Amino acid sequence: MAKACGKIILFGEHAVVYNMPGIALPILNYFTNVTSYKSELFTCCNDRVLYDFEKEKLNKLIEFIFKELKLDQKIHLHIESSLPISSGLGSSASLSIALIRELHNFYNLNLTKKQINKLAYKCEKIFHGTPSGIDNTVINYEQPVFFQDKTNFIKLNKPLDFVIASTGNRPDTKEIVQEVRKKYEENKNKYQNIIEDIGLIAMKAKKSLELGNLEKIGSLMNQNHELLKELGVSSAKLNLFCEICRQNGAYGAKLSGAGKGGNMIALVDGKTKEKIIEELSILSNNVFYTRVI
Ligand code: PMV
Repeated sequence: MAKACGKIILFGEHAVVYNMPGIALPILNYFTNVTSYKSELFTCCNDRVLYDFEKEKLNKLIEFIFKELKLDQKIHLHIESSLPISSGLGSSASLSIALIRELHNFYNLNLTKKQINKLAYKCEKIFHGTPSGIDNTVINYEQPVFFQDKTNFIKLNKPLDFVIASTGNRPDTKEIVQEVRKKYEENKNKYQNIIEDIGLIAMKAKKSLELGNLEKIGSLMNQNHELLKELGVSSAKLNLFCEICRQNGAYGAKLSGAGKGGNMIALVDGKTKEKIIEELSILSNNVFYTRVI
């Protein structure tokens, strides 16, 4: 059995598509597990109910990986995932990496972590069209990453405590990225400025994470959220969730991932965590706490 974790984007979503830096963290509360068995025919079962378009994508993904790795398909695959789909927690990259890892073990391949990451990036293209590569990278290495044209790892000065709340919507990352691209092409001046400002925030945030300055990290998260609003990728629910967190003492809060739904993340501490979870649980049916070390 092989597994892969989830992720959150702490800073820089969307801007990272335009070669600005982004910061992502692994989330170890949720996993995709893939188990394989010898079989004369190819079969695959999945523990969750998928829409038809999701089934199509899954089939396409499996076919693609087998082709890239030049493998026969005499295998039964069993996929289990606790990661919510299309919520900004990296379900697609986690699935790709769990699948590649399991095939790597099952067929005794000799792939390096770098090769697995490269293949997972190609898989991400099936889901997202023009992905930056930040999702597959953080999930592959399971470490905080500062991602731009190459990957740097961030050594956190202290653990970070987050409350994560789902808005319940399942937005399509590919569509949202395309919408932002359209706006960018139509008004380069305005959107280039927003994207550069987000990039600048990610650079400042790297330093704050290395120093363990929670107030500063929280304040940068709030600023990043405002810029994502200007980019047009927030939603009333995401804004409300952020506001609730701030009013209840979070260091900062923002949307995470492509936006227009998905998840909100708030940086909290031991004193504020319980109250924030209680307040958000009235509005969201998936609120959880995670610690990133
Ligand atoms: O919604 P997610 O978790 O797939 O995050 C997408 C992040 C973007 O920056 C919007 C796209 C990308 O490829 O980096």
